[in-house]
Amino acid sequence: MQLLAIYGSPRKDGNTDLLLNQFLKGAEKAGCQINRLFVRDLTIYPCTACGKCEKEPICPLDDDMQMIYAALEKAEAVVVATPVYFYNVPAQLKALIDRCQLLWHKNKEKKPTKPGYLISVGGSKGKRLFDGVILTIKYFLNSTGFSLKESLTYANIDAKGAIKGHPTALKEAFVAGERLCQR
Ligand SMILES: Cc1cc2nc3c(=O)[nH]c(=O)nc-3n(C[C@H](O)[C@H](O)[C@H](O)COP(=O)(O)O)c2cc1C
Repeated sequence: MQLLAIYGSPRKDGNTDLLLNQFLKGAEKAGCQINRLFVRDLTIYPCTACGKCEKEPICPLDDDMQMIYAALEKAEAVVVATPVYFYNVPAQLKALIDRCQLLWHKNKEKKPTKPGYLISVGGSKGKRLFDGVILTIKYFLNSTGFSLKESLTYANIDAKGAIKGHPTALKEAFVAGERLCQR
């Protein structure tokens, strides 16, 4: 299975990077081929609502999204790792998601069939901490041909690397990656 892994944090080697690395170790062990996208290293301009993609699946903005559209279409499964930023995803990842309006237009009559997975971490606690991220990622996935199968979320993890002190998180991420690729 071709698995697309989207590293959504601007912080290199932070908590979501560590969790996603573990997830991918499990996935590789189970036989997945991985394509890694580091959103922080890509040039992704924000959507300008020009309306061109309503008529044909072309975006006039010339940047790394052209490669990302192809990667999303080629992938058989996707995993998105993102921190919570003001109850949503960081702006860099949100720009990628907004630019998928093109794929939303292209796929709106189709049922999403490919599996999608979410990993998220937030610094604070609170019952609704992940509500915004889960909704945003769920509908991003649906627009791009995927459906959210499972999510792994960890609250109260703030400092860089703090996830290493969590008793089960890294192991859970490994097992989840393994499971996704055994489907
Ligand atoms: C700009 C910014 C906004 C944030 N907003 C929230 C928030 O709304 N709720 C929360 O619990 N944590 C928030 N955090 C904390 C991060 O979610 C937390 O530090 C997380 O562990 C970062 O993951 P990373 O190491 O993968 O980047 C924010 C951090 C930054 C830098």
